[in-house]
Amino acid sequence: MGLIPYKNEEYLDWSDEANVAKMRAALKDVGGRLGKSHPAIIGGKPIETDGEIVSVNPADPSQIVGRTAAATEREADMALDVATGAFEHWSRTTPESRARILLRAAAIMKRRRFELLAWEVFEGGKPWNEADAQVAEGIDFLEYYAREMLRLKDGVEIYAIPGEESRYSYQPMGVGVIIAPWNFPTAILTGMSSAAIVTGNTIVMKPSEFTSVIGAVVAEIFEEAGLPEGVLNFLPGYGSDIGDYLVGDARTRFISFTGSMKTGLRINELAARQIENQRWVKRVIAEMGGKDAMVIDDSADLDSAAADIVKSAYGYSGQKCSAASRAILHADVYDEVLGKVLENARALKIGLPAEEDGATVNVGPVISEPQFEKVSGYVDAGKQEGDRVLGEDPGDPKNGYFVSPTIFAVEPDAKVAREEIFGPVLSVIKARDFDDALRLANDSPYGLTGGVYSKNRDHLERARREFKAGNVYFNRGITGALVGVQPFGGFGMSGTDSKAGGPDYLPLHMLARTVVERF
Ligand code: NAD
Ligand code: ALA
Repeated sequence: MGLIPYKNEEYLDWSDEANVAKMRAALKDVGGRLGKSHPAIIGGKPIETDGEIVSVNPADPSQIVGRTAAATEREADMALDVATGAFEHWSRTTPESRARILLRAAAIMKRRRFELLAWEVFEGGKPWNEADAQVAEGIDFLEYYAREMLRLKDGVEIYAIPGEESRYSYQPMGVGVIIAPWNFPTAILTGMSSAAIVTGNTIVMKPSEFTSVIGAVVAEIFEEAGLPEGVLNFLPGYGSDIGDYLVGDARTRFISFTGSMKTGLRINELAARQIENQRWVKRVIAEMGGKDAMVIDDSADLDSAAADIVKSAYGYSGQKCSAASRAILHADVYDEVLGKVLENARALKIGLPAEEDGATVNVGPVISEPQFEKVSGYVDAGKQEGDRVLGEDPGDPKNGYFVSPTIFAVEPDAKVAREEIFGPVLSVIKARDFDDALRLANDSPYGLTGGVYSKNRDHLERARREFKAGNVYFNRGITGALVGVQPFGGFGMSGTDSKAGGPDYLPLHMLARTVVERF
């Protein structure tokens, strides 16, 4: 198949008035379509459920973005059944034909880009640039995994002994349950689903209950791209209602999960249990939380370091698994860096992303009332534990789930410096020297992203070897991994290090087969 070489989708330029005008038009258009109901789609058929999920705009919870079905075990059973049946034919299709569906889905996403951005703004509360990075990442996953499947379609080279031929190739696995989080509702849902589909598996796709409407739009795009009925079964629902059922069922071959450590570990445990009629060891791909640190040493470019700490800490209100939630500063530059971080953070504009001037908003709301309560609880804890050098007490959630960018100067053992908060809360910690800083950075059960700002080659080389994180970045921010360029996945309790957007990702969704013939 002839294709142009893979290239990341460019981000939109918001200083271009034409883009701003298109975005305003999309917000108006999507704004006029809010409140619609979206059924589950099983085997290509719309399925209504008794209950529903009501999705609201986190910047204005009185605004209903849409309603989706809330699946129960009954619909989960139907979806697994249909996916099992569809596997028979889908697993026999050619890798090229499956790759074409992904390429077509990417083309549709490009055409519907502003509309997707608008859904992200309404349902996810995302500032425009964050929404854009997300949709671009979704497109990248489709383009990249299509090419990856073509690379792997004939297997990979191995050696043979004289007189024999050895072949090492990949085949589809079975039914995959895709369980996604709300924070990258287009990108991660698209990435996990497309990887499973292009490798010849069929799926039950469960979006987060907080972003089920975007889930419905993603499912619709796959359908529009020509994916046969039953290959992707869209099953919106609450994790607490259907999660255990989907994971525990004997028809499930693998689970691809992205979300919190707590849920990931539960899935891992449940999937490991052998039940009646089970014919395989279920595979679990689980990408989980983080408590990511940026280390700034005494040789660093302090202006850049401070600017990147702020971007990495407060992009999408700190609701990225990759977000900087700990800034570990060398004692000799502590005051100066903290001063510059404060200056940058105070310049952030907090606002309503769906407004006319949304392009200038840096920080929107957190996703939901439970998340607002959780983050507010950590703000209270932080005030007891350390010095709040930035931030105000959160207001009334009825006016939107807003939490202002907050900084605590704390000791490393403070709860806010150890637990994943997943909100706009940064802990700043003083280190004696670089050794101490690296030790503090590594003193966490998580190991997702990390960063070092330094001009000291020895420090960088040491961190290259010793920083315990799946994605380590030097002299730059630590969020926004690019598909195909910065494969993404964590060490430790951050997950199975599956490296989404990397060369090892697709084989996780396939069985590798060795066939040897003696001549
Ligand atoms: P979550 O664990 O609460 O939910 C994730 C998904 O799991 C949702 O679809 C939810 O409905 C489902 N779920 C809940 N209970 C379940 C159960 N018992 N069985 C099966 N599924 C169940 O996480 P969240 O709040 O949606 O997302 C935020 C978390 O995700 C953070 O911890 C963040 O760090 C992490 N995250 C990690 C990555 C990564 O690549 N490592 C990326 C994004 C988010
Ligand atoms: N891949 C996303 C990032 O790097 C989570 O921010």
